[in-house]
Amino acid sequence: MKVLVIGSGGREHSLVWKIAQSPLVSKIFCAPGNPGISELAECINITADQTNLLCKFAVKENIDLTVVGPEAPLVDGIVDIFSKYKLKVFGPDKKAAILEDSKVFSKRLLRKHGIPTADFKCFDNYQHAKQYVSSKVAPIVVKADGLSKGKGVFVCKTNDEALKAIDSIMKDKVFGNAGSQVVIEECLIGEEISLLAFTDGRNIVAMESSQDHKTIFDGDQGPNTGGMGAYSPVPIMTDKLYLQIEKEILVPTVHAMNREERPYKGVIYIGLMITSSGPMVLEFNVRFGDPEAQVILTRMKSDIVPIMLATITGELDKVDLDWYSQASVCVVMASGGYPGSYDNGKQITGLDSLKNQKDISVFHAGTKSADGKIITNGGRVLNIVACGEDIEAAQKKVYEAVSKISFDGAHYRRDIADKSITKPPVSTT
Ligand code: AMP
Ligand code: GLY
Repeated sequence: MKVLVIGSGGREHSLVWKIAQSPLVSKIFCAPGNPGISELAECINITADQTNLLCKFAVKENIDLTVVGPEAPLVDGIVDIFSKYKLKVFGPDKKAAILEDSKVFSKRLLRKHGIPTADFKCFDNYQHAKQYVSSKVAPIVVKADGLSKGKGVFVCKTNDEALKAIDSIMKDKVFGNAGSQVVIEECLIGEEISLLAFTDGRNIVAMESSQDHKTIFDGDQGPNTGGMGAYSPVPIMTDKLYLQIEKEILVPTVHAMNREERPYKGVIYIGLMITSSGPMVLEFNVRFGDPEAQVILTRMKSDIVPIMLATITGELDKVDLDWYSQASVCVVMASGGYPGSYDNGKQITGLDSLKNQKDISVFHAGTKSADGKIITNGGRVLNIVACGEDIEAAQKKVYEAVSKISFDGAHYRRDIADKSITKPPVSTT
């Protein structure tokens, strides 16, 4: 089989890495890919938003399966176009991708179908949004409706912060049209879990749980990013909790999309807050999480390709999904300054020392080759992943590996997975 993977980040590198292990696959292309991906796939010079060129390429090369990494092409309808040409493509169509494209849509869907989520109100009028915030008691959460690269959510400790968030979304339009509407919602307290599942619209096969670390600094401080690290499995995800999420959230959401005549096929990513009154939906994504994919795929034992094909053909009930019991931890190394402005072009050293190391994977995100060197070329630069017999072992290995890599200004969190490790109380005697 020939497979085309679309995208250029750490998520796509881990997808290519996993797909490359399939005995069904003879050739992988990646558009546009990155230097790490180019060791496993032929990278082609077409970007993820050039849908027509991608489609032409897939027809010309007789691609048997296309896997779309990021949300933007899905929201733009890449699946609809590929399907017209009878190309097999993994991901939801445009109608279903609205689940991530519009927080107003997804919140209303949740309310209409009685699926637990934070109480909320939507606004398309700037003054009304501000009046509403002034009538509420902080903390309060303000969200831009549309896609904003993980940066459109403001968890505000004060009303003043919330008013400023509305200003930047609706008045200064920092996210463009994605900010024509806002969702203002109650702030939930609890632990977050990302639950991803394959669904063909009828059958649902959940993946192992993972937890992202969204903010830039240790201790969950500072602004939100695309994700600074992740681990899997999440100890608080007990069988009992999983069954509750399946019954109250996962199955009802897939059915709700059917009832709205937006049947959903692909990976559904549910961001959950586990509150004292039960699990509640924070957000939906219509693709693998980044960096959640990196920890989930390093734990997946089954060949992913038959699962993706079965998702497309509606035969998920015919495949099995097995996991390694080992834990996985991913640390994102970012450019200094991210998620604000940062410089590119810093030389990365130490990559060779981690090649072919047991239990260690280095997935490239914002990197570029120049004069035989690998240099930084983005906010999130590298994802270092380690597997171990438990989270603590994986965490120790991952930080050892991270210490071997350096580039000017490199920033990473020192506390990835700390939350999941019960440390003995410190003796005070
Ligand atoms: P989202 O893109 O909606 O997942 O939001 C990004 C992050 O903001 C989430 O992972 C949470 O950490 C936080 N967040 C979003 N909504 C809420 C909420 N209602 N209460 C508390 N935190 C939230
Ligand atoms: N890690 C969060 C996301 O992929 O949206």
